[in-house]
Amino acid sequence: MNFYILTLFPDMITQALNTSIIGRAKEKGILKITAVNIRDYTKDKHQKTDDYPYGGGAGMVMQAQPIYDAYQAVRAKMKKKPRTIYLTPQGPAFTQNMAKELAGEEDLVFLCGHYEGVDERVLEEIVTDSVSIGDYVLTGGELPAMVMIDAVSRMVPGVLANEDSAAWESFEGNLLEYPQYSRPYEWNGKKVPDVLLSGDHFKIEQWRREQSILRTKQYRPDLLKKADLTIREKAVYHVYDERN
Ligand code: ADE
Repeated sequence: MNFYILTLFPDMITQALNTSIIGRAKEKGILKITAVNIRDYTKDKHQKTDDYPYGGGAGMVMQAQPIYDAYQAVRAKMKKKPRTIYLTPQGPAFTQNMAKELAGEEDLVFLCGHYEGVDERVLEEIVTDSVSIGDYVLTGGELPAMVMIDAVSRMVPGVLANEDSAAWESFEGNLLEYPQYSRPYEWNGKKVPDVLLSGDHFKIEQWRREQSILRTKQYRPDLLKKADLTIREKAVYHVYDERN
C-alpha cells in the first residue's frame, strides 16, 4: 500500500513513521510512505506557498497552485484517481471502520493544511474525503495524517506479526478490549485473575467477553448501545438499544 502525504513539513512525517511496527512494514515492502514537500512545487520566485485571505482577516491561506502541482506529480504515478483525504476539524470523525475500509485501497493521498486554511478551489479539485481526528483544533494536518496512517497501516495484511491481534481488540463489535496480564503471577500485592490460569479456554473466553462488556458499559456507554450482544447478554448487563 502506498501513502503520499502532501505537506510543508515532510521531515515531521518521515521521522515519526520510520519506527516500530510501521518502520518494519516499510522495510518489508508492505507499505511505502512518501512525504511530498509542497514547497518544491511553488512557481513563486520567493518560494512562497501562502498569501493573505481575500476579504481580509487574520492569518494566511495556502495557495492552490503548489498544492495542485504536488498532487498532479503524485497522481501521474497512478492508473486511477486516488482517494485524497483532507485533514480538517470540519470533516466527519475518523473511526476504526474507516481505517479498515481505507486499508483496502492501493494508494492514499493526504493533504495537510496549515495556517488559516487552504484555498477552497484546490480542495474542490482534488479532495475526495474530509476527515477530522476529533473535536479539537491542531496547528496542522500532519499529526492527524500520521494518526490515520498508523491506524490504516495496522489493518493491512502482514503489517502486524500476529493477524489475530488486529481481530481481537478494542472496537471489534463495538466493544472495548478485556484486561491483559503477564508474568509475574503476583505483582505489588495484586494477583492475576485465577480463571486465566485455569487452562479452560471456554471459561477464559467467557470471562474476557464479560470484562469487555463491563468495561464498555463503564467507559463508553455510547458504544455499548451499538455493540453486537446476544439477547441474553443485553438482559444480563441491562443494555437497552434504540431498537427495543
Ligand atoms: N487540522 C487541525 N485540527 C484537526 C483535527 N482535529 N482533525 C483533522 N485535521 C485537523
